[in-house]
Amino acid sequence: MSIFSHQFHHLSQLLERARHDWQHTPFSCTHLPWADLAPPLLAMNEEELDELDENDHRALAWLGQWRPALLTPYFQPLPELNRASDYHTPHWSSGIGGRKWAQIKDFAANITAFGSQLAKNPTLPILEWCAGKGHLGRLLAQQGANITSLEWSAELCAQGQALAEQLQLNHTFICTDALSESAATLFKAQQCGVALHACGELHLRFLQHAAQAGTQELALSPCCYHLISGECYQPLSKLGQAHDLKLDRQSLRLPLQRQITGGERVRKLRHLELTWRLAFDELQRTLTKNNSYLPLPSFPKALLSGSFSEFVGWACNKKGLVAPLTIDSSHWLALAEQRRLLVKRIELVRHRYRYGLELWLLLDKALFLEEQGYQVQLGTFTNLANTPRRYLIQAKRPLPVT
Ligand SMILES: C[S@@+](CC[C@H](N)C(=O)[O-])C[C@H]1O[C@@H](n2cnc3c(N)ncnc32)[C@H](O)[C@@H]1O
Repeated sequence: MSIFSHQFHHLSQLLERARHDWQHTPFSCTHLPWADLAPPLLAMNEEELDELDENDHRALAWLGQWRPALLTPYFQPLPELNRASDYHTPHWSSGIGGRKWAQIKDFAANITAFGSQLAKNPTLPILEWCAGKGHLGRLLAQQGANITSLEWSAELCAQGQALAEQLQLNHTFICTDALSESAATLFKAQQCGVALHACGELHLRFLQHAAQAGTQELALSPCCYHLISGECYQPLSKLGQAHDLKLDRQSLRLPLQRQITGGERVRKLRHLELTWRLAFDELQRTLTKNNSYLPLPSFPKALLSGSFSEFVGWACNKKGLVAPLTIDSSHWLALAEQRRLLVKRIELVRHRYRYGLELWLLLDKALFLEEQGYQVQLGTFTNLANTPRRYLIQAKRPLPVT
């Protein structure tokens, strides 16, 4: 039994037992779902709730008083992997800087580590999966690698290809859908596959195609677990299938709810967004005479600089409703005030399972790769201040003994 399977087995059991803590939709709840947690949750005001929720370490210790399983080693943080030695932006970095550049540099710093063949054989071709403009590929090409970047946006491919040509790099774009059958044929045995922030179905295909082709080395940082083609996550590993948590899209979104605190302005915007969403929900329940929650999609933050009535117009339009001619904003906003606290109390508990669920998803992938004969490493490739999507799965096929 590998270390991963031992941890996964226990984590699965703990998450299954705690399902009642993490599987609620806070916007649908009309009261706190946990009798034992109601007194401590009700004892906190909004400021205290916000402060505790933002401090993951303290919040975990707080909830651990009633949920000691959260404090067991099965929820322990993954190790820190390599970090870049510097984050200077060269002239060819084409305007990317700050956190994005740090992510790319740190990701690249890990590819050549972990006993990679690339360290000895820089000619091992690299396939960059869902590349965007290929910033990562360009950095690796600058270091001498031979890169093929797959991306479906023709515009991003054209921009990336132009930059590669300007710099005379060994870097080619293939403009195609990663979910098409032909994309599978891009995977080869003598290759290193890299995928930085590939969303749900895209990273699942990456792993499946690479395993099928026997691709020598892999480096994947997954994101947007909920963007899958089915209703529920289908575990890749045998152990995952045996301990299937049957995660639906709503549960798969939970790991993504960790955000980097972006200062007071961002905090205020989040507060306003939550209030307006809840106020609209109160209004739509009256309008449709249907007392159930109607989810709204994400929207550009610029919408929050208008009036609440304008927001209602947008939301009604999205949901195929006729907006009322007059809107008593203060009435709906006052109702939202009461519900906002309930949502925050429920989120304070749910958020403590963000990491456990993400770890479960990562371990399922690590186990799948082990089952396929890979040696696997899991950890963080960059610091939390750069991105909360900082987990890296690295895998390599053991070389034949000569
Ligand atoms: C989150 S971005 C990551 C881009 C890049 N790897 C990075 O980290 O900067 C995901 C990329 O996947 C691309 N993408 C989404 N769906 C795709 C598909 N079906 N086939 C190919 N590319 C896709 C998007 O256009 C986008 O550039």
